[in-house]
Amino acid sequence: MTRINALLAAIALTLPFSSLVGAVNVTVPFSAPSGAQTLSPTLLSFSIEQDNWPDWVGTNSPNNFTTAALQNFAALTGTPPNIRVGANSEDKTTWSPTVTINVDQFPPPNSITPFPEASSITVGDGFYQLSRFLPRGTHMTWGINFGANNATNAVNMAKSIFRAFQNAAVIASGVVLDRLEVGNEADLYLNNGLRTGTWTVNTYVSDWESIAGPVVQAVGITDATGPVTLQGASFANQGFTPSELFNLGILGSTPGKAISVISQHHYSAAFCNGGNFPLVSFLSKSAVRGNLSVFTDDISATHAQGLPYILGETNSIACHGAPGVSNTAGIALWVVDYTLHASTLGIKQAFFHEGVGYKYDFFQPISLNRSIVDGSPVDPPALPHVQPAYYGGILIDTLIGSTGSSQIVELTVDDSNTSGFAVFESGQLVRAVFINLNSWLTTSTGTRPSVHIDFGGLTGSATARRLVIQHADDTSNVTFAGQSFETPGNPLPVGEVVTEDVVLSEGLDLRSTEAVLVDF
Ligand SMILES: *[C@@H]1O[C@H](CO)[C@@H](O)[C@H](O)[C@H]1NC(C)=O
Ligand SMILES: *[C@@H]1O[C@H](CO)[C@@H](O)[C@H](O)[C@H]1NC(C)=O
Ligand SMILES: *[C@@H]1O[C@H](CO)[C@@H](O)[C@H](O)[C@H]1NC(C)=O
Ligand SMILES: *[C@@H]1O[C@H](CO)[C@@H](O)[C@H](O)[C@H]1NC(C)=O
Ligand SMILES: *[C@@H]1O[C@H](CO)[C@@H](O)[C@H](O)[C@H]1NC(C)=O
Ligand SMILES: *[C@@H]1O[C@H](CO)[C@@H](O)[C@H](O)[C@H]1NC(C)=O
Ligand SMILES: *[C@@H]1O[C@H](CO)[C@@H](O)[C@H](O)[C@H]1NC(C)=O
Repeated sequence: MTRINALLAAIALTLPFSSLVGAVNVTVPFSAPSGAQTLSPTLLSFSIEQDNWPDWVGTNSPNNFTTAALQNFAALTGTPPNIRVGANSEDKTTWSPTVTINVDQFPPPNSITPFPEASSITVGDGFYQLSRFLPRGTHMTWGINFGANNATNAVNMAKSIFRAFQNAAVIASGVVLDRLEVGNEADLYLNNGLRTGTWTVNTYVSDWESIAGPVVQAVGITDATGPVTLQGASFANQGFTPSELFNLGILGSTPGKAISVISQHHYSAAFCNGGNFPLVSFLSKSAVRGNLSVFTDDISATHAQGLPYILGETNSIACHGAPGVSNTAGIALWVVDYTLHASTLGIKQAFFHEGVGYKYDFFQPISLNRSIVDGSPVDPPALPHVQPAYYGGILIDTLIGSTGSSQIVELTVDDSNTSGFAVFESGQLVRAVFINLNSWLTTSTGTRPSVHIDFGGLTGSATARRLVIQHADDTSNVTFAGQSFETPGNPLPVGEVVTEDVVLSEGLDLRSTEAVLVDF
């Protein structure tokens, strides 16, 4: 590892001599402009598919790989990522008094979906008590089955969740329940067979109130100021919108009074039936902005109600990701640009959806004996390991820092595929990140191009740490500040920290398919 990192450091030092495609002069303000958004320390959070939650978190003791992978983030921002458990599986879950943890039924794997979701999930009280294995200080959202349209089962689930968070071991773990989410992507219920006949936003609202109402009454949630509240909307697309919910008076209903957050989901494509998605279509500044700008009206309508707005489930490509995109090194840059641009639009958190064996996972939490790409046997099994997207999270949380009150603006970078963001603490410029999304692929030839970044009129010196990717289409071998997180079975960083001195008046070069964090 040390040898590889020394090599990477040497490569980084040769950067000023690589060929340039252009230079951009970026104005980086000294102090936070009006309109800067406050960064949540949990901007980068995770959503977990509920079926394999026990594997992900651990059943008899914590899954130490998961713990360590989450602690790396907590060490940067001071707070572990928030965890939402649910998604499709929440609408297939039945609580049973006779089940200890869970009993699931899974369809057979195939090459498009090597790790399919359970078709049915029966859980007992022990299932929710596994929350104690998350890092201390983790805040959670748990899903409740609305798909089955069965108030008894929904109430059973809610009571079991509340019992778990009153359990001594869970209390002692310092893991906190923030919210319940009643129903996942209900705007898709006609498509997935969870409703038939008339299913409009109007029927949604009355139906939701008929299930969420008994839930809040059963567990004693009365408003949106208590320790436990409800997550609203959680729609897949914009089939139903937050504005429609507000206009239909949802916030005045008994359960609606408990809604403290509006969540929507977003993926930039879908691999449910396979398909070919070019990685370069993701490494595009305009595609990232095109995908997120559709939410601006929903965000302002939500803020107008005094509620925060989150992407409660998101990732690159729906149905667990696509090979050659979601599992690549290049997607780490997409994660950074997508999440930071989202934050500048007023999206408070982005919960990246994760499972076991999904292509878009930030990390694989357990050993896998099938390929995540096509389901072919992997022998010996691959140990738990970090995937490239993870480095995007590390860069984001390094940029956010640990004050809990940093602010962000997007910088105007006059290059169609290079973006930049500046971060302020106590109103003063502290850090910036620049992302060169232009694709450098294993098939690329010639000299790897760079863009030269000048820092407006800034003078003095700064320090830079790079997110180094060999090729956008690699599926491993990424480093941040010279360190690798990819040791099989252990997500702790390995290697010397490599930083560069930057003379601000001279600017810096940023290669295609690379990001740099500048500490001022
Ligand atoms: C996790 O670490 C703890 C403490 O080091 C240890 O007792 C436990 O056996 C480990 N669990 C696993 C699954 O490795
Ligand atoms: C609703 O859920 C309860 C509890 O799981 C179950 O006993 C009952 O059969 C369900 N009702 C229907 C109509 O499925
Ligand atoms: C930006 O990236 C996209 C996707 O790879 C590409 O189509 C476009 O040509 C790039 N723009 C420039 C100016 O290189
Ligand atoms: C969303 O992103 C995908 C993949 O990057 C892209 O193909 C699509 O055009 C984008 N959509 C919009 C509206 O920009
Ligand atoms: C993978 O492991 C599971 C048990 O965890 C086993 O049922 C399955 O047969 C194994 N598959 C292969 C391809 O070895
Ligand atoms: C960049 O812009 C600043 C003013 O914002 C100017 O002083 C400086 O000369 C410019 N640098 C280059 C290399 O164009
Ligand atoms: C990782 O990158 C280093 C540095 O470029 C290179 O020497 C090595 O072959 C790469 N390893 C893999 C597995 O791609």
